[in-house]
Amino acid sequence: METRTTGLATRGIDPLDGAAVRADFPLLAAPPEPGTARVAFLDSAASSQKPAAVIEAMDAFYRRDNANIHRGVYKLSERATAAYEAARHTVADFIGAASARECIFVRNTTEAINLVAQTWGRRELRAGDLAVLTVMEHHSNLVPWQLVAAETGAELAFVRMTPDGRLDLDHLDTLLARGPKLVAFSHVSNALGTIHPAEEITRRAKAAGAAVLIDAAQSVPHVPVNVAALGCDFLALSGHKMLGPLGSGVLWGRFDLLDGLPPFMGGGSMIRRVELSGSTWADVPARFEAGTPAVADAVGLGAAVEYLSALGMDRVRTHERELLAYAVGALAEVPGLRTFGPTDLDQRSGVISFELGDIHPHDVAAILDEEGVAVRAGHHCCQPLMRELGVVATSRASFYVYNDREDVDRLVAALHRANRVFAIG
Ligand code: ALA
Repeated sequence: METRTTGLATRGIDPLDGAAVRADFPLLAAPPEPGTARVAFLDSAASSQKPAAVIEAMDAFYRRDNANIHRGVYKLSERATAAYEAARHTVADFIGAASARECIFVRNTTEAINLVAQTWGRRELRAGDLAVLTVMEHHSNLVPWQLVAAETGAELAFVRMTPDGRLDLDHLDTLLARGPKLVAFSHVSNALGTIHPAEEITRRAKAAGAAVLIDAAQSVPHVPVNVAALGCDFLALSGHKMLGPLGSGVLWGRFDLLDGLPPFMGGGSMIRRVELSGSTWADVPARFEAGTPAVADAVGLGAAVEYLSALGMDRVRTHERELLAYAVGALAEVPGLRTFGPTDLDQRSGVISFELGDIHPHDVAAILDEEGVAVRAGHHCCQPLMRELGVVATSRASFYVYNDREDVDRLVAALHRANRVFAIG
């Protein structure tokens, strides 16, 4: 990267060169149609683009190794099984799991959290028990617990948010004093980018005797994450937000906890013995992977993790921190633009939620799209959080490894155009 913001190459780590990384991403490297500009893709918080290494790993699997796994006694099936289990090991190493058996392949973070809610939650939560969430949760870490609470009679309580989009840890302590059975929270807010002090929250929750689930959908792709250092019990992630295929995700759980849980879904692969009168269950993780899994997607996720590991997660974070600082400075020059979230950028991932005057976020996003700038607009699956902010929706730009200052400059130029179209500023 030709210019760097002083002090951001923390701990001697160089930021990435976004343009050079972009060359690895077929969709981003070239304009979509002749004569058009390449897309400035600023919606990786929704789903990231995929490098050629991931696309090729999946292509190679289907061309060379495709067969069902854990079933065939023939070589092709053995190769497919080996590729699938190798991907499990790769993900386990990446997040610091004690064993690959602690990683369950699922479709996404939503499925991972539902798995915990429907197995651990339905068994452990009883009428009168308390589960602590936060007002900042994505619907995927809220609705599954509402379903379990409705069934069990457990109570849900929500840690409040500060006006600048952080969690109120004093309020957390107040709720912890009530002895909750569960504390479930997102490591990084998808709507505001707030990086919550996950280790500290987990430490306090564990000291209060609660089990801890972390929604890491927005953290594992962007910052170094280690489940042992976090000290949590469950952690959910989405592969498609970290350069992997759509429909890939992982639930990590402490082995002793997973080992004691009943199945989530019944069917093939998850049983030990089946009688007409009843069945017994396979060991973890097979117990939670009923039916034929998305093998090529797991292989693709493994390739994505290898790609991120080669870049280095410290460098990924440094790069996004640098872009965030540049963008915050550039956006401050746009008349009528208001951003949400913490001002301390060390507490922010590469996500900027904003509103532009009184232009509806969908109109803002539509004008940006005309300029080839892709952002998300809406409630970001966080309706309670939006109510806390006093808005119905925001526009959101989010950065990843393939973005650079040119993408930010195009965002800013397009926002100036939106202002001109709506005659503000
Ligand atoms: N959870 C994804 C987002 O924040 C879809 O956009």
